[in-house]
Amino acid sequence: MNHLVNDIEVIKSKATKIHDVDFDNLAFGKVYTDHMLECNFKNGKWEEPKVVPYQPIILDPSAKIFHYGQSVFEGMKAYKDNNDDVWLFRPVDNFKRLNISSKRLAMPELPEAYFMEGLKTLLQVDKDWIPKKEGSSLYVRPFVFASGKGFHASPADEYKFIIACAPSGAYFAGKIKVLIEEKYSRSANGGVGYAKAGGNYAGQFYPTQLAIEKGYNQVIWTDDVNHENIEEAGAMNIFIRINDTLITAPTSDRILDGITRKSIIAIAEDKGIPVEVRTIKVHEVVEAAKNGSLKEMFGAGTAAVVSPISGFGYKDKDFSLPELENNYASYLKKRITDIQTNKAEDPFGWRYKV
Ligand code: PLP
Ligand code: COI
Repeated sequence: MNHLVNDIEVIKSKATKIHDVDFDNLAFGKVYTDHMLECNFKNGKWEEPKVVPYQPIILDPSAKIFHYGQSVFEGMKAYKDNNDDVWLFRPVDNFKRLNISSKRLAMPELPEAYFMEGLKTLLQVDKDWIPKKEGSSLYVRPFVFASGKGFHASPADEYKFIIACAPSGAYFAGKIKVLIEEKYSRSANGGVGYAKAGGNYAGQFYPTQLAIEKGYNQVIWTDDVNHENIEEAGAMNIFIRINDTLITAPTSDRILDGITRKSIIAIAEDKGIPVEVRTIKVHEVVEAAKNGSLKEMFGAGTAAVVSPISGFGYKDKDFSLPELENNYASYLKKRITDIQTNKAEDPFGWRYKV
């Protein structure tokens, strides 16, 4: 039977797949919950969102998503604490960024209430799917794409906003080895790098495959002009510790304004760690690796949380990082996940009860 939750219509799935899932051995993003949120943009406006059974989407072969790549997405996590309360982390920031991305791709912006009420309703309906095991969470993937038809290279007249969820374990199995990119670029000034556009990721796959063939897990993106500055790490922002100072690149046209990044900066500053947000020269990092002042490198993002880097490759040479007992990465990862999962006070006001 259909019913309303938070004023959102819910069409329940007839059966559940939850008993087929091994919650002790979750991969990242491979199994999906019983429901999804669906919302259509037609005749110049967003229709009311609905929670419906998770199911395939039927699209016309001329849908503009297939031809012109109008598609943006977000990544969030939902956590369940020991009292079975459900928490999100800074979800309004994801909502705002989705609209920033949509605007850049000439796609319609969503009303906040459709995003937030739809998200909360979906999480209430699929609450049983939120893992409690440490290191696991419900990965939440809101996305918007052009479902409207036409081969004309112009924005579509119809769009779909969907939220799908996947109970997930860690994104990376352990420490990662990275390759500092010298040839390919992820983004450029005036481009789409600051948006979470699907095409930004498609463009990274080939150079990342080349790096994987050489034995690395991930590419470190450098500026597109001279490949002299360290900018981002694929699906993560990048942090570098030289002596006691934690350094991250400033956000720009080319770099995603990561929610984990800005939270890590605030947590580090709160702890008294010196933080610098500035241009990071590749040359400076290579020199620091040679003279021993390079202490840590890590990526930060929703999916990957805080992912320590064991070493990097640059110009056919490999550099390894020391194993520090009191490292910043472990502290920052524990502090942010304790806040996210309601294991610690949240002095920043980031946690959001569903
Ligand atoms: N940079 C890129 C390119 C990403 O895809 C992500 C992942 O969302 C991030 C950085 C980290 O952003 P956030 O911390 O908001 O997840
Ligand atoms: C996230 O961290 O949520 C992302 O969107 C990264 C994704 C490409 C796996």
